[in-house]
Amino acid sequence: MRLLPQGDSLFVLAPAKINLSLKVLGRRDDGYHELQTVMASVGLYDTLRFAPAEESLSLRVHSLCRSVNSSPVNEIPVDDRNLVIKAARLLQAETGARRGADITLWKRIPSEAGLGGGSSDAAATLVGLNQFWNLQLNPEQLHALAARLGSDVNFFLDSQAAALCTGRGEKIETVPLPQPFSAVIIKPPSGLSTAKVFQQWSRDQVTSSTPVQTSVIENDLQEPARRLNPEIDQLLARLQRQDVLKAGMTGSGSACFAICRTARQARTLAGRCRSWRMGQVFVVSSGV
Ligand code: C5P
Repeated sequence: MRLLPQGDSLFVLAPAKINLSLKVLGRRDDGYHELQTVMASVGLYDTLRFAPAEESLSLRVHSLCRSVNSSPVNEIPVDDRNLVIKAARLLQAETGARRGADITLWKRIPSEAGLGGGSSDAAATLVGLNQFWNLQLNPEQLHALAARLGSDVNFFLDSQAAALCTGRGEKIETVPLPQPFSAVIIKPPSGLSTAKVFQQWSRDQVTSSTPVQTSVIENDLQEPARRLNPEIDQLLARLQRQDVLKAGMTGSGSACFAICRTARQARTLAGRCRSWRMGQVFVVSSGV
């Protein structure tokens, strides 16, 4: 995450993530699932702008995500259902801050993709408004609020390149990225609801004992996700036929990715992926 003050506004760049591995260890009493996942942030960003306002909060969203037929993809709510507003209201409630903000969100990270876009926006709002409103919350306090907003929000708070995330995903331990990478991400036209993929996992009772193939990213949510969205199978089959280091699905899907040998290979592969017309294609690098 990057913070860029400009005039009386503050811009924040909120990156996406991919899961380099994801193990589901079991269903918990609170209905969530116990996870062990390595996340890496990647250079695909939403942009948020916080501008002064008296006491009210407002959010405008400009969707820069386009589907394959170049129509704007799914509508993003601008009310209390949006994690940006939820994060801002949580900050107001917890600190008694009476100031408002006009927030603009330029959305590039596709929703329902497993790329953590909404969570990254929420983390950017916590960090951005903490600075914009001069609230002086410390990292520990911000992490406590992040965990209440969603399981992936904590990962984005610290802007680390990679982390091992446990618990329901909110416990973060920074780990070194094995090596910097370039990757291609493809988001099929239809997305997947995280809750529905976990429900499917519970129904299937998929165990984590499936043998690990070296060229495939180990992700226990892949099986339930592909049952709900067959586009994932077709996409992964194609990606795995390419001469890439690894291919897999990120988080609960539906986006899939291929880790490439070089940035150049990623650019070339992206061109080929676009010709497949199977979804939105992004070239990203790690460590942002
Ligand atoms: O935490 P977050 O709001 O992002 O999660 C969305 C949904 O995904 C949850 O309501 C829950 O149904 C499911 N989930 C889960 N176990 C996790 C994380 C999410 O079951 N570790």
